[in-house]
Amino acid sequence: MRTHALFPTYIHYTDLQRKGAPAFNRELIKETAQIRDFDVPGQRWSRKNYPGGYTSYGSMDKLHQFSSTFMELEKKLDRHVKAFARELEYDLTDRELIMTDCWVNVMPEHTVHGLHLHPNSTISGTYYVKTPKGCSRIKFEDPRLDRMMAAPPRKPDARRENQQFIQFPAEAGKVVLFESWLRHEVASNPTKSERISISFNYNWF
Ligand code: NI
Repeated sequence: MRTHALFPTYIHYTDLQRKGAPAFNRELIKETAQIRDFDVPGQRWSRKNYPGGYTSYGSMDKLHQFSSTFMELEKKLDRHVKAFARELEYDLTDRELIMTDCWVNVMPEHTVHGLHLHPNSTISGTYYVKTPKGCSRIKFEDPRLDRMMAAPPRKPDARRENQQFIQFPAEAGKVVLFESWLRHEVASNPTKSERISISFNYNWF
């Protein structure tokens, strides 16, 4: 082989748990509604920063420290993050990846989640709780895009690893993990129902 594919970008996408997701998600939906009703500062923050939707990102971003249901979610996610870190071959001698932030996102029809990354974190991700049929996917962009000055676009049928944008479906029960520097976005929710997800950050301590 004369051409080597190097410097990969890893994305972990799988079921959170083998069974029991519907019951667990019902509990998370219920608590999300309670949090939204209770979180007046968050409603205000969302009106300004997340038009049409609700997120606890600006107000209650440590839900794993307050709710036993979110604590349970943290425990389930820890296993995936550990496996992901093994795939990445991080050297975590005397260190551990710990959840630092965890917040809910409710996207009604037409709500958008603009392009962003998660500064000051190591691994970030999202767990899908309620995903109406046809709701927007999560879209990642090639992290080298801003350096590709004169690079031609890729063929529409290019191999997956050569594409500059990759989408994963938002599907209740699935978890997606990525390194926090990887930019991503969610297009406007085209469905009449709310799309609910829980996002989180891990850092190494
Ligand atoms: Ni994000």
